[in-house]
Amino acid sequence: MRDRRTARVAIWAAAVLVCCASPGAAQLRRMTRPKVERPDGPVWEVMRKHCTTCHGIDDYAFYAQDRAGWQKVIAEKHKAGEADLSEQDRNLLLDWLASKFGPNTKPFPRTYVPPEISTYFTDPEAFRLLNRSCTKCHGLERVDKVRKAAEAWRVTLVDMRERGAQLSDEELEQLVEWLARVWGTNEDK
Ligand code: HEC
Ligand code: HEC
Repeated sequence: MRDRRTARVAIWAAAVLVCCASPGAAQLRRMTRPKVERPDGPVWEVMRKHCTTCHGIDDYAFYAQDRAGWQKVIAEKHKAGEADLSEQDRNLLLDWLASKFGPNTKPFPRTYVPPEISTYFTDPEAFRLLNRSCTKCHGLERVDKVRKAAEAWRVTLVDMRERGAQLSDEELEQLVEWLARVWGTNEDK
């Protein structure tokens, strides 16, 4: 009897932990969201007419589906009539979605919450990490070429980590801070 009560208390304690470890409102606000670049031409026309009237396109990056999977996501997320397309428009859109966010891509994580950092990289420290974590796949000229504000760097790094870059959360944030400082933009700052 006693044991069962202890067990029940333990279950409740675990439930409270789970509940309160999930992101609160303040964290949700800081949660990193993906950024999806707008396609050109006819695909964008389809989206502009039929999709972006209600919401943006960034959330597409949360998925990695083949064509059939995409069709299912769209069907499940909308009421009848909300996201109906002609066959031609649907083909255009599904082809683009499956090529950009197909089953071989990594879905952007829904819940990355940046930790607070208290130490900041010097240039040599940052280069050491870049050389360790990034050059396996491409040269650092990829980094050299672009300027982004912190939030955009964070999105890139979370994306790179999903692809296989080895970075702890702490390292990721330190790199975001350094990149925005050294390879940042004047806007958005
Ligand atoms: C009439 C408004 C409306 C239109 C038009 C619309 N959507 Fe949506 N869409 C919604 C709403 C509302 C949700 C959230 C539903 C939910 O979470 O259950 C949603 C959710 C989604 C999601 C899932 C997002 C996530 O975070 O999981 C995707 C993907 C999506 N829509 C794609 C599209 C595409 C592609 C089109 C155009 C073909 C489109 N939507 C057109 C209202 C719309
Ligand atoms: C596992 C392979 C891999 C690793 C490791 C990797 N990248 Fe990438 N990176 C890619 C690929 C693939 C692309 C091209 C993505 C595209 O064009 O959609 C890319 C593109 C980029 C771009 C240009 C696109 C953009 O969003 O601006 C930047 C900047 C970048 N990587 C930075 C980094 C940094 C910094 C690191 C180390 C923390 C890193 N990458 C590690 C695979 C990798």
